[in-house]
Amino acid sequence: MQWRRRHCCPIKMTWTAKRSLFRTHVAGLLSLALLFTLFSFFSRQDWLPGRNGPRENPLAYTVRGFRGPRGEANQSSSVRGLWREAGFVAPKPPLNLSSQPAGGPAGEAVGGGGGVRMAAMGLGDSMSTNKSLQKELDAGGKLSAQPYRYILNQPFKCGDGAPFLVLLIAAEPGQADARHAIRRTWGNDSVAMGLGFVRLFLLGVGKSSDAFLQSGIEEESRVYQDIIQQDYQDTYYNLTIKTLMAMNWVATYCPRASYVMKTDSDMFVNTEYLIQKLLKPELPPKRRYFTGYLMRGYAPNRNKDSKWYMPPELYPSERYPTFCSGTGYVFSGDMAELIYQASLGIRRLHLEDVYVGICLAKLRIEPTPPPNEFLFNHWRVSYSSCKYSHLITSHQFHPNELIKYWNHLQSNKHDACINTAKEKNGRYRQRRFHGARPP
Ligand SMILES: *[C@@H]1O[C@H](CO)[C@@H](O)[C@H](O)[C@H]1NC(C)=O
Ligand SMILES: *[C@@H]1O[C@H](CO)[C@@H](O)[C@H](O)[C@H]1NC(C)=O
Ligand SMILES: *[C@@H]1O[C@H](CO)[C@@H](O)[C@H](O)[C@H]1NC(C)=O
Ligand SMILES: *[C@@H]1O[C@H](CO)[C@@H](O)[C@H](O)[C@H]1NC(C)=O
Ligand SMILES: *[C@@H]1O[C@H](CO)[C@@H](O)[C@H](O)[C@H]1NC(C)=O
Repeated sequence: MQWRRRHCCPIKMTWTAKRSLFRTHVAGLLSLALLFTLFSFFSRQDWLPGRNGPRENPLAYTVRGFRGPRGEANQSSSVRGLWREAGFVAPKPPLNLSSQPAGGPAGEAVGGGGGVRMAAMGLGDSMSTNKSLQKELDAGGKLSAQPYRYILNQPFKCGDGAPFLVLLIAAEPGQADARHAIRRTWGNDSVAMGLGFVRLFLLGVGKSSDAFLQSGIEEESRVYQDIIQQDYQDTYYNLTIKTLMAMNWVATYCPRASYVMKTDSDMFVNTEYLIQKLLKPELPPKRRYFTGYLMRGYAPNRNKDSKWYMPPELYPSERYPTFCSGTGYVFSGDMAELIYQASLGIRRLHLEDVYVGICLAKLRIEPTPPPNEFLFNHWRVSYSSCKYSHLITSHQFHPNELIKYWNHLQSNKHDACINTAKEKNGRYRQRRFHGARPP
């Protein structure tokens, strides 16, 4: 009888039955559409995620993570499960990225971009990098040691001490709002709970010699003592200089720091999670350690209109060595001097994170994959207290958003995932109820 009622006589279906049948069909169609989208996305390989692209583009990268080549495959399944429960929905893949506007120094936010989101050419085999890379390294032009002069410096910031974490934040001279927001949120000393903690903003000089801007920065520096600035032009194409300034600063004024993180002013960084869960102050500090969002097997972008264009004359190899996205990478304090020293023999390339990757390759230090694939994100992860209490970086935040989400996270810290669990139970109960409803 039950069977007959359900399958034989659609005409006599109740309204409820019709509605649920309709829902089933819609769900089916949606899944088909999703499958199709996924398929067409993966058959295209020339996407090029980045700042100018859609606001969220994690799909490609998370999938890379799922299929992770070597070492990336095993991540904590509990965290993965947590994200599923938190309703992590992979946003749509970037659409037509070849139509992305070409970036120039003028249009780009210095310090905001920080990095490289290269054209992916498949995962390839990063070994092939090795041979040609060595040639490249040997041929490279040299960077003279510290060619730029400090306008603002904080030589005594570390004193004789060995801070647990030095935060280096690339910021544009004009981004006072972002700096203020960071001081009040993830860059506030209170995140380190008494461990030594140093926050430094990395600045060059503004494009036009803007005396008003510069005097504002000097005042800000006097109040907060957390700005270092050298007299190179603060442009996107000078980000490598900025990073090297920072490496040199750590090597010179803070060589005993346990860990260093380099990140950008438009990032959300869960510094508490970074310190407690990744770096673990209770353990002896690691050495020769470098981690972040690993970019493996990436090929130089040869499209002249692209922000990430790499001329073959500068970098002839077909692959970059493994590097970490410039939006946020973390390393042990000993690495600053090693990287700076290595850089003296390597032609300077404007892609800051690729460049650091090349220094690591020269040092024969492989970046360590983070313990799970959700920690470092160089796209914007949609906010939920549950997800944000278990990640380290998320990209593209306005100063106001930073404060809003940070405060929300702080006030929900101890039960960050409770709503997620409630929602899940709620849905489950509802479904059961429907199931038991008499026809
Ligand atoms: C990943 O797997 C390797 C070997 O299969 C193991 O040595 C390593 O500890 C694992 N890492 C994690 C984070 O589980
Ligand atoms: C993407 O945009 C470029 C330039 O605007 C255009 O030539 C190309 O046909 C577009 N591709 C697709 C798949 O729409
Ligand atoms: C590169 O090649 C050298 C030998 O030529 C080898 O010792 C080294 O491990 C290789 N590095 C990488 C990253 O594959
Ligand atoms: C850090 O946070 C404390 C407490 O919220 C606040 O009083 C202080 O002003 C913050 N520091 C900075 C530099 O904003
Ligand atoms: C980088 O800074 C130097 C020194 O100020 C300047 O001469 C150069 O034009 C800048 N390069 C770019 C690409 O902005």
